[in-house]
Amino acid sequence: MPAELKCDALIIGAGLAGLFAALNIDPPLDCVIVTKEDVNTSNSWMAQGGIAAAVSPQDDPDYHYEDTLVAGAGLCDSEAVRVLVEEGPSDVEALRAMEVPFDLNDDGELHITREGGHTYKRVVHAGGDATGRETVKVLAQIAASRGNIRIIPNFFLIDLLKHADTGECTGALFMDTASGAFSAIRARGVILATGGIGRIYLRTTNPAVATGDGIAAARRAGAAVTRMEFIQFHPTALYLPDSDSAFLISEALRGEGAKLVGRQGGRFMKNAHPLAELAPRDVVARAIFEEMARTGEPCVFLDITGRPLSELRARFPTITAECLKHGIDISKDLIPVSPAQHYLMGGVAAGLRAQSNIRRLYACGESGCSGVHGANRLASNSMLECLVFGRRAAEHISGLPQPEPGAVVYPKLPEGTREPDIQDIRRKLGELCQSGAGAFRTRDGVEKGMEALAELETDMESAAFSKDMWETVNMLTVARCVFEACLERRESVGAHTIDGSERLM
Ligand code: SIN
Repeated sequence: MPAELKCDALIIGAGLAGLFAALNIDPPLDCVIVTKEDVNTSNSWMAQGGIAAAVSPQDDPDYHYEDTLVAGAGLCDSEAVRVLVEEGPSDVEALRAMEVPFDLNDDGELHITREGGHTYKRVVHAGGDATGRETVKVLAQIAASRGNIRIIPNFFLIDLLKHADTGECTGALFMDTASGAFSAIRARGVILATGGIGRIYLRTTNPAVATGDGIAAARRAGAAVTRMEFIQFHPTALYLPDSDSAFLISEALRGEGAKLVGRQGGRFMKNAHPLAELAPRDVVARAIFEEMARTGEPCVFLDITGRPLSELRARFPTITAECLKHGIDISKDLIPVSPAQHYLMGGVAAGLRAQSNIRRLYACGESGCSGVHGANRLASNSMLECLVFGRRAAEHISGLPQPEPGAVVYPKLPEGTREPDIQDIRRKLGELCQSGAGAFRTRDGVEKGMEALAELETDMESAAFSKDMWETVNMLTVARCVFEACLERRESVGAHTIDGSERLM
């Protein structure tokens, strides 16, 4: 029997959704935040561009609503979008009250920028291009100072715990990755805020921790997982020959005037969409892939030359420094870019309070699918969704009664002894997701990808249990969800493009 801990709210994941949820748990209730590594390791931490919300006097939640629906290609849940755009501005205000250091203009007001798909300037940012890091730092500090919140690092989620009679989720089992010991944490409500699945792709902007652990565990527990075919490819990740690394070059660069060009300097987005470089992300990514195919080049280029380096360094310190590391002075040189996996629009199906179909289990942020993103997420709506639905989950948990006393079903851990080559399996998985479930899909490619996936699943059978092994099982689980969803969705829509079908939007 593992060591056992009890709390009111168990939050799995210490990105923006998890931290903001914790800060919204009613203080008499106690809350444990568990993170696989630490608060510096999440997609939220790496988020560059900003948080979209109708906070400028010229803007209106109605315009934000419309832009979100257009980007989502007709598949957004309109009620959830209404909640997002109406409640978002006050959550951004809450961050300001917590002293998140948003960038200001010369008049001391919020500096607000534009990104793809937005018809108005509505993206607030911090640290120039380090919005995630600056926001998470502040929230983590506040959380650490709150008497009712405990943050536990290096706890790897193994599985969710369910009540033997009611089937409700009443906690989760973890492995302490430092000691290898197992611990159960029991709670009256559990929030999954475990982030995305980017690492199943070879080329992704996501950190190494983005292996879909929460989604895989939710699926094993019987939660509905939905819309996994909708994978967002960010148009502009730094392209470095001979490297799979995909450092993000924020869309905010285009918001501040950067143009997409071919090697000879010609702009190709002008003819592709009325919003040109600021078209919705799926449109820009497809246009780049088409341009690459047309020219046979492995990348296209972002051009923000002609501005003083000092100005670019002030506005985009992280990007300027990263590019300089590779010998690219963005004030003078074109930046080589190509699309990379960036975000999952699907996830654990979640309602307006982020509740899943399993009572007491909630999912928000990238691991949840509230339906606000439809088939393609509008730029910088992800951090907003973390705030709005993280808070809503917390509010709902705060009103939950204690679960019935009774037995809990503990997961049975695999007892195999084989030591498969995990790195090789992950590399093959990356390749097959990239080719079979990339930005352009064919039915044949998806089917072949599924066959290859089945071989990798077989390779993992009877493997000896370890953190890396279980993480790989999670990656295979979520990859299977993606492939199955790709096969089911017959039409091309938003970020899902499948050969031989008509494009809906
Ligand atoms: C970016 O800065 O381009 C990414 C922000 C986002 O994913 O919305």
